[in-house]
Amino acid sequence: MKALILSGGKGTRLRPLTYTGAKQLVPVANKPILWYCIESIVAAGVKDIGIVISPETGDEVKNKTGNGDRFGANIEYILQSQPAGLAHAVKISQPFLGNDPFIMFLGDNLIELPLLTFLTDFIQKQLDALILLKQVANPSAFGVAQVDEHGKVIKLVEKPKDPQSNLALVGVYFFQSSIHEAIAQITPSARGELEITDAIQKLIDTNKAVNASEIGGWWLDTGKKDDILSANQIILDTRLTSQMLGEVDVGSQVSGRIQIGAGSKIINCKIRGPVIIGENCYLENAYIGPYSSISDRVTIINTELEHSVILNDTKIMDIQQRIVDSLIGQRVSMTVSPKRPQALRFLVGDDSQLEIM
Ligand code: DAU
Repeated sequence: MKALILSGGKGTRLRPLTYTGAKQLVPVANKPILWYCIESIVAAGVKDIGIVISPETGDEVKNKTGNGDRFGANIEYILQSQPAGLAHAVKISQPFLGNDPFIMFLGDNLIELPLLTFLTDFIQKQLDALILLKQVANPSAFGVAQVDEHGKVIKLVEKPKDPQSNLALVGVYFFQSSIHEAIAQITPSARGELEITDAIQKLIDTNKAVNASEIGGWWLDTGKKDDILSANQIILDTRLTSQMLGEVDVGSQVSGRIQIGAGSKIINCKIRGPVIIGENCYLENAYIGPYSSISDRVTIINTELEHSVILNDTKIMDIQQRIVDSLIGQRVSMTVSPKRPQALRFLVGDDSQLEIM
């Protein structure tokens, strides 16, 4: 059994962050989304993992994630020259996959449940494919499955305009090597991609054993800002344990579950967990409210912030209104003149969103 994680693609929905970085490396509770996928695969006992990367962000993914030692896995990287679809990613990974069965995990998906129960079911029932489904409010944004009264999958359609059910395909799939023959028989979709949804439909049409499991627990597809904030909230809520490696001065008040990394200094601040603060941060006269994740080397002075994710090396100073529901990238500098500001001065990258309310 092997695993294939798809970490290529263009990440258009998370621009501008994804102009300079891979969307799968955006941190949730200070850990890249991709790493949650790797950990969940390793926890199911699968150690040979291929990661599909793109020419634009592949080096960053490789450098950050490494050869798998830190996860107890062997990781191989597979370069996909263009984001030509999920089935295309499987096709170019055939030399790595060989004839082994494999778990395919989309590198921007997070699921709460462990994979082992599904994997066991897949193996014991000798399935060609096991797909996971979840009821959603906006099925048109996903692959959608039509299932009969016995739970058998009849039809799968990728992002239908007129969805026939509210059961979305979760980005975790279990495949036998028969998927490669199915992929060889499909052609690119209207959006020009080789769709894995079409390849699974091909398995169904040729009477292969395809089962679906409707999953419990949460599932997050972290394509957009609000998805990242929800993922961050859920992970902080369910998985954060308190750890205090940095320094907190006597003037600060800290309550709830809080993690503060080594080398960080907290001076005269009020912090209400769940909150995670990375290494070598400097916070002074700040309020950090629940569901905030602050990455390494961030400075926050005279500012209130909650329910937000702040990436590495960012400086936020003297902001007079509370920052809420925000996702702020790396190396950003934000400041407001301590005198009553007469004007706003910005250097803002393409596709940024500023809401001054
Ligand atoms: O998140 C679940 C959904 O994922 C499913 O419901 C859909 O059926 C499935 O097609 C997929 O839809 P998305 O539009 O969300 O896929 P996205 O383009 O975001 O790509 C998913 C991951 O795969 C992402 O980490 C990027 C990577 N990828 C994508 C493409 C198109 C690749 O590595 N190579 C590619 O060619």
